[in-house]
Amino acid sequence: MNHLPYRFHDAQREIRFDRFDLPAPWINYLSNGRMHAFVSQAGGGMSWWLSPMMFRLTRYRFYNLPIDSPGFYVYLRMADGTVWSPAFRPSETPVDFREASHAPGYSKFTAKKDGLTAALKLFMAQDYDTLVWDLKLTNESGEEIVCDVFAYVELSQFLAREENVLGYYLKWNTRAVFDEDLQAVTYAYTAWMHPRKDESPLVYFGSDAKIESFCCNRDLFCGNYRDERNPVEVQNGRLSNTNLQGGEPCGALHTHVSLQAGKEKRLHFFLGVTKGALSDYDKAAAGAKDTLTALREDGAADQQFAKLQSWWREHLAVYQCELPDADANRMLNTWNPLQSVQTARYSRSISSDASGVRGIGFRDTAQDMLAQAYRKPEWATEMLWYLASQQLEDGHAIHTAWPEEKRPPQDITRSDDHIWMVYLAYAIAAETGDLSFLDKEIPFLGTDLMTPASTATLWEHLLRGVDFTEQHLGEHNLPLILFSDWNDHLGPFGRKGKGESVMVSQQHVYALRQLSELAERRGDSNAVEAFSKLIEKQETALEQYAWDGEWFLRGLDDEAQPIGTHTQAHARIWLNAQSWMVIADACKAHQIEAMDSAARELDTGMGLLLNTPGYPGWPSKEAAMVNGLPAGYSENGGVFCQANCWAIMAEALLGRGDRAWNYYKQIMPNEVIQKVGVERYHAEAYAYCSTMLGKDNEKFGWGCVSQVTGTAAWMDVAATQYLLGIRPTLRGLLIDPSIPSDWEGFTVERSYRGCRLTIRVENPEHVQHGIKEIRVDGKKVSLENGPLLMESILNGRSNARIQVILGS
Ligand code: GLC
Repeated sequence: MNHLPYRFHDAQREIRFDRFDLPAPWINYLSNGRMHAFVSQAGGGMSWWLSPMMFRLTRYRFYNLPIDSPGFYVYLRMADGTVWSPAFRPSETPVDFREASHAPGYSKFTAKKDGLTAALKLFMAQDYDTLVWDLKLTNESGEEIVCDVFAYVELSQFLAREENVLGYYLKWNTRAVFDEDLQAVTYAYTAWMHPRKDESPLVYFGSDAKIESFCCNRDLFCGNYRDERNPVEVQNGRLSNTNLQGGEPCGALHTHVSLQAGKEKRLHFFLGVTKGALSDYDKAAAGAKDTLTALREDGAADQQFAKLQSWWREHLAVYQCELPDADANRMLNTWNPLQSVQTARYSRSISSDASGVRGIGFRDTAQDMLAQAYRKPEWATEMLWYLASQQLEDGHAIHTAWPEEKRPPQDITRSDDHIWMVYLAYAIAAETGDLSFLDKEIPFLGTDLMTPASTATLWEHLLRGVDFTEQHLGEHNLPLILFSDWNDHLGPFGRKGKGESVMVSQQHVYALRQLSELAERRGDSNAVEAFSKLIEKQETALEQYAWDGEWFLRGLDDEAQPIGTHTQAHARIWLNAQSWMVIADACKAHQIEAMDSAARELDTGMGLLLNTPGYPGWPSKEAAMVNGLPAGYSENGGVFCQANCWAIMAEALLGRGDRAWNYYKQIMPNEVIQKVGVERYHAEAYAYCSTMLGKDNEKFGWGCVSQVTGTAAWMDVAATQYLLGIRPTLRGLLIDPSIPSDWEGFTVERSYRGCRLTIRVENPEHVQHGIKEIRVDGKKVSLENGPLLMESILNGRSNARIQVILGS
């Protein structure tokens, strides 16, 4: 194995890089919930305000060479004309030492050359919509150092799609000028057709250092046929003081530094926005000035950084663990919950791969918020209310929405979208114990997909979803596939409108069980009874049609032929049909055999395939069955990471801790990289990918579509709630771990309904599963109702020590 280009520093929750020309950008998100950016290990990245599609502030050249550019760039020009940078980009000049690191909410870039150390820290101010560039220069050369510092960003035309298509017209609506009063570059995009032009921001780029010169014109800054790696104006040592009305805008600032031997100097650059540049310029400019004035105060940036850190500290503290496994500890304590925040914010929309125009996926966000339901239930509730407003009166939900963009949603009816809301509602209720959010009145979406229709409680919305599924059952009583189910590429099996989905049936059952618990709590026994009939109907259909002899079918196609049967040449077994049967708790008699078949047929040692063997790609005629996906990619025989989470949950539910942990560990990015190397895996070692190429593909092990994936939330839930087994339920906190038998035990710190729990689990008999004893502050609790901590047991305490003994 080659030297890995990174090391984890777990105490600081950091990953540090010592090589930077990775096969793909490894990014970190910086955000305050309104203004956002991502930045790579090389200093490449982009920023946006509210929406990467509407208000893209700085550019990033997706899919183009050079990769990962431009970014948040700093140049140091020494007296002899040498130019270098704290990050690998832009200048790429060799230095004596270089390091970069990512941590929750910030990234740092440090380089040292000829006795001068430059350390750049990037983070989003929490109280201001401003990206702070905190640059520290330290002179250890023994002599005075005189140099020029340049900071540079390329500005964007805000509207990401339009810029791509019509940028050659629209670029005449850009205006970037140096504002003497603000001592900052300000930028406005004046296109009349911006759908939210009243809010269109004034962008500013300023500093707390004295500005010697500036440039607002990208092409002049770089020079003809050059790029950001060797801009002519930096080479000249002075910027041209050019304003720009029309063209390719940038913000470039120059300041001069002279530093005595042994001294250090800190300076900051501030890239930010204020609202309403076009509607009230004076007000916007005054807002920019206020922020710049505040941030230029001594210590102001540090205060913002401290605030950012405390946000993350609190967020992560909700659930922390100590396991006899360093990789799992690291993922569970830091990186997985970090990624779950990103997907909750960005759905599948924006990363160095995803170009930021995809909006919010209904099913995606409903799932992403599961990882917030236990850490930030208020946030999850807000999103759930929003999602419910995107459900139509017949109970089905739209598929993709653009709430910030105020674009009409996309509605091609999937069989599953609406169902995911139930799990989120249950997760919130299980966390807080408070069901009142179900009574919130929310309008359905009208059939024009823009105006609200009738209003009903969230509870009624959930019931409407049940109705929709019930109204769309096929000949075998299983739900119709419709356009597709969770699997975006299942559609071809049901194009004639008759194909049925086993997975949606399983989802329906799981949802009905949760609704039933909620209804019971609400004192609605009629609903409980009605649900139990519906569950029975699905169970009967599943018993009758879903079993194939060694595993469960994935569905029935338009001709009522089985999907995923042993006689098929391609896709003869599908993972989700096995794992979801366990999650749904249906067809009990065959669950173990089905999961064993999944292990035998689908486990590659680096993740379970979604189905196997993959259909051959084009020009084979079978390729049409998977919409032309090549074999081994994604839904066609790929290692679909999100589906692996469900297999982990299923094995944990079956109490097979050894296998569940093996599944968990083998697709952890850092573990895959140990096996196949960074060049093959490509993607971040600290964030999950959507899929890895499967074994039908010669690039088996390649991580595709990183960061923005449902794997983040589901893996978070699978690990914290199923493997470690600390699972909120309506009845209280369930403690039901499934762990490797060689573990002695582990500890979890968890806040739950106002109580800080320290849960110590001991495993003296080396079992994989099973509770022998639970003590709360030394007192044994009855296990009559299962291993549950009820509020009555916690009894209003703010702290409790829970001791759990596993055994048979
Ligand atoms: C992608 C989509 C998600 C879908 C999955 C499986 O991750 O974002 O909505 O469920 O693929 O097809």
